[in-house]
Parts: sequence; C-alpha cells; structure tokens
Amino acid sequence: MQITVNGEARDIDVEPDMPLLWVLRDELGLTGTKYGCGIAQCGACTVHVDGMAVRSCQTAIGDLEGASITTIEGLGTPEALHAVQAAWIEHQVAQCGYCQSGQIMQAADLLARIPEPTDEDIDAVMSGNLCRCGTYPRIRAAIHAAATTMREG
Ligand code: FES
Ligand code: FES
Repeated sequence: MQITVNGEARDIDVEPDMPLLWVLRDELGLTGTKYGCGIAQCGACTVHVDGMAVRSCQTAIGDLEGASITTIEGLGTPEALHAVQAAWIEHQVAQCGYCQSGQIMQAADLLARIPEPTDEDIDAVMSGNLCRCGTYPRIRAAIHAAATTMREG
C-alpha cells in the first residue's frame, strides 16, 4: 500500500492491522512520534492524517491507503519552523520532552480549527494530551503566542 508521509510517497508492506505508530517508528525510522500508553489515552503518539490530529497508536495502517500523514519531523523545517514550534521554543515549553511532539501536533490541529482560542478552548483540547511534567501553563501561553503569529503573520 502507499501513503504519503511528510510530503513523500512511501510504499508500506506490513500487516494491515499494524498501528500507524509502529509504521512510523519501526518501518520509516521517524522516531519523533512517541509511544506512551498504546491505548489512545495519552496523546504522545499524535500525528496528522489528512490534516486532522489522530492517535497513531490506535490507527491501523490498513485504513490509511492513500492518506497523507504529517509527523513532527514534517510540521516545519529548521529554517522555517511552524508557528507552534517557534512559540514552543520562545516559551521553553518542554521539560522532559517526552510528550511534546504529541502536544505540538495537537496544538497545530487546534489552531487550524480555532484560530483565536480561549483558555477554555485550549484546556478542553490539550488536557487530553497528558504531560507528567505539568507543562500546561506554558503550553497555554505558547498556543496564544502561536495564534497571534498565525493571525498577524
Ligand atoms: S501512545 Fe497513543 S495515545 Fe498514548
Ligand atoms: S514534558 Fe515531560 S511529560 Fe510532558
């Protein structure tokens, strides 16, 4: 089967029930996406499928024929960071970092849907991405900063 990953067509030859997370990490070597719980509860494995945030640990590759996947490696580039990535650096969001690629992918999805989110909008979405280090206040600040950048350019 074929999928597009970070803009590049990739041929995948695995069992159809293999989770997308395994394909990304083990077949394609894209280890920026993390394994946390494996049961769609923590958000560490969040990537975008056709522009929507999904939990790749519970998304079977067999359901993704022709889909376009974006991982943290493809969200921006070192020369042209996504506004969320730039805000994350500006606000020094990460602590241990383990949950953070999932947080960033979830935040980018949030801002694509809600360009000017309130604190409540942010908390409602981001509280579903678990952070054992408790970085939520900085996540909130960085999302507001990224929203301003994306609105004002
Ligand atoms: S590893 Fe996928 S939600 Fe936790
Ligand atoms: S930064 Fe450590 S779990 Fe979120």
